Amino acid sequence: MWGGRFAEGPSAIMREINASIPFDKALWRQDIAASKAHVAMLGAQGIVSAEDAATIAEGLDKVAAEYERDGVPENWDLEDIHMTTEARLAEMVGPVAGRLHTARSRNDQVATDFRLWVRDAMDQADEGLAALQRSLVTRAGEHSASIMPGFTHLQTAQPVTLGHHLMAYYEMLRRDRSRFADARSRLNECPLGSAALAGTGFPIDRATTAQALGFERPTANSLDAVSDRDFALDYLMAASQCALHLSRLAEEFIVWASQPFGFVRLPDSLSTGSSIMPQKKNPDAAELVRGHTGRVIGCATALMVTMKGLPLAYSKDMQDDKPPVFEAAGLLALSIAAMTGMVAESEFRTDRMRQAAELGYATATDLADWLVREADIPFREAHHITGAAVKRAEADGVALDQLPLDVLQAIDSRIDDRVYKALSVDASVASRASYGGTAPKEVERRVTEARQALGMT
Ligand code: ARG
Repeated sequence: MWGGRFAEGPSAIMREINASIPFDKALWRQDIAASKAHVAMLGAQGIVSAEDAATIAEGLDKVAAEYERDGVPENWDLEDIHMTTEARLAEMVGPVAGRLHTARSRNDQVATDFRLWVRDAMDQADEGLAALQRSLVTRAGEHSASIMPGFTHLQTAQPVTLGHHLMAYYEMLRRDRSRFADARSRLNECPLGSAALAGTGFPIDRATTAQALGFERPTANSLDAVSDRDFALDYLMAASQCALHLSRLAEEFIVWASQPFGFVRLPDSLSTGSSIMPQKKNPDAAELVRGHTGRVIGCATALMVTMKGLPLAYSKDMQDDKPPVFEAAGLLALSIAAMTGMVAESEFRTDRMRQAAELGYATATDLADWLVREADIPFREAHHITGAAVKRAEADGVALDQLPLDVLQAIDSRIDDRVYKALSVDASVASRASYGGTAPKEVERRVTEARQALGMT
């Protein structure tokens, strides 16, 4: 398609290094849609005849039907999806196919196709995340009052509810969805008609093609339009942040499923066995979500490094934009689906969680707070008294609320038997009813809001 000025064809190495068809054939639907929008506009503007425009449009439909049925052929000589499709179109409709490329270049064509693809990936991520949020909210509603230890430094800190813990991830995913939505609104401008880099002398109508492809408006600067891959980077960075959240959730399931914790039984359907140890049930899906996150972040890094040194306008380096985006999108979709199943189908062992909270001195802060409130002791002193009580309970191998009153009073005489009410894990979580706190009624309030936001009611 460009051999006019060459005396010799490309070497085998040139053909191989140049060919993007092995991966950019994934853009075929977008390429056909953009070509159809373009040729309809060329016809409407009288740049090609109405008859030629119709012939080309019908031909594109036939090529699409063929791709749908047989897949996209991979011929390195045709380099990429754009030339592959045009060549096939020419075989079908003859030389009139050559009019399709009037007033456009592969540079604005690929920028348009890729935006359309990334826009779909953003929409898919949003849908998947909404489903995962629905799982989280459903399980949180079931467990708004199920007690578990809350951790800092992975050391038992204060009792929380499982519902509260799960809803923490709902909030993270809410922000992820808003990052994808934000990226989508910036992406949604159409580069088509920017041509190679400078725009075109043909009387095209960019607003019409933009609208036909679902974009808000045409891009405003042709040089920027063919060189910009911010939309792909925005996607990869939102995907990285999202994958990072999924990885943290996966890590929690891995820890909770380990025997010393025993907080959760993972679904068999998302676990694997060991070929040597018959008792094993391994959390491989969760581990792979954690592992895939490293790869997604690697994809974002790869494209940033590709883009950072490129002068305006298009350089062939930019052909390398697609593999990391395709890879990240596949990994993210799988990770979201795996975590959705894990949240929906895991069996939470609330008895073990409660026991861990009771045995871990998780209500020590409640004892200190009680001393402040009921005995008017300064918090620092209350902290010290409570520390002595924990030390004694630990030495006796009992929970705080199992220390007899005379033992507590020997530590500080201002303690009386009302303290036991404050030392139970249930009283502890019920008391933390500040906005956004772990009290069951506060968790239920947030679950209700979330269900409304997700259209679950
Ligand atoms: N396959 C190319 C890519 O993905 C299409 C654009 C080619 N443009 C060019 N001037 N060679 O980036």
